[in-house]
Amino acid sequence: MTQAAEPIGLSTNDGSDRSLDRDCTTLSRHVLQQFQTFTPEAQDLSALMNRIGLAGKLVARRLSRAGLMEGVLGFTGELNVQGESVKKMDVYANDVFISVFKQSGLVCRLASEEMENPYYIPENCPLGRYTLLYDPIDGSSNTDTNLSLGSIFAIRQQKGEDLDHSASDLLASGREQIAAGYILYGPSTMLVYSIGKGVHSFTLDPSLGEFILTEENMRIPTQGSVYSVNEGNFWQWEESFREYIRYVHRTEGYSARYSGAMVSDIHRVLVQGGVFLYPGTVQKPEGKLRLLYESAPLAFLIEQAGGRATTGHEDILDVIPSKLHQRTPLIIGGREDVAKVESFIQNGH
Ligand code: AHG
Ligand code: MN
Ligand code: MN
Repeated sequence: MTQAAEPIGLSTNDGSDRSLDRDCTTLSRHVLQQFQTFTPEAQDLSALMNRIGLAGKLVARRLSRAGLMEGVLGFTGELNVQGESVKKMDVYANDVFISVFKQSGLVCRLASEEMENPYYIPENCPLGRYTLLYDPIDGSSNTDTNLSLGSIFAIRQQKGEDLDHSASDLLASGREQIAAGYILYGPSTMLVYSIGKGVHSFTLDPSLGEFILTEENMRIPTQGSVYSVNEGNFWQWEESFREYIRYVHRTEGYSARYSGAMVSDIHRVLVQGGVFLYPGTVQKPEGKLRLLYESAPLAFLIEQAGGRATTGHEDILDVIPSKLHQRTPLIIGGREDVAKVESFIQNGH
């Protein structure tokens, strides 16, 4: 006897409903589900995340063919505001984020590692209530060797009119972020985000051209075996960091993992546990990583997953920068792993 077909998505006997539901949980739908309402804020954030996803797809597309195209790999010959050599992919990705937000109507300002001052989109400014802060390509030294890269982003609500274009309202703590995350360009492209309601990961399905939900409410293990740090800087650090490294060397069970792109290193730590460190040095106590578009967005995400992020003396999310491109030391990961590093900084053991 033949049975009447179940409506799509409601059948329960062969698992096809779950896979169909999974395939349909796109990024923008997920953001709306998180709010459980269709308020203007929910719709704005859904549209913003959709745009960030589009930027990620454009960057991923270019990276996937980098070895086959002219003008993708290598340096531009310029130095950025940080004094670092700029790669062609840094410029491309920086411009991609600007162009996807030009049409959005929602973003008035974009502040990036690659631009000395924020970029204003005047036609959006009367209404554009949001600012995007981003590192367009994180780990750009990996670009020419076909290794993992990332993009980091944070969204803040604009405070005040900013008529003089000083962007002074951005000099506020990471607790002002309303969304943050990263895109990881690895064997597959993943997008991990939080709007302050847990951490959720998506994988780009190239056949659909959509980021599809991979894991909801990710939790970082409180303790893990990985420590992720550039040990080449060992003799430039304060003694407390050297003591911590000596401790992991003599303690069974630790593994060093360091890729040169903190998005991929921190993604490993998020999924499997451990700690990522980029300490200051005696000569540069502020370290290398930039607060507003590197450390603070990742701190927001890792705290949302149950982990911690600190300078060693202060939670990263409490640091108030005095300038746009301010740097901070960063220790980020599972709660117990971060506490262990802190105890070396604060008590010497
Ligand atoms: P960026 O490519 O945006 O300048 O960031 C690179 C950062 C971070 O991703 C990475 O962990 C770290 O710098 C690598 O620096 P070192 O080569 O000094 O270890
Ligand atoms: Mn970076
Ligand atoms: Mn970068």
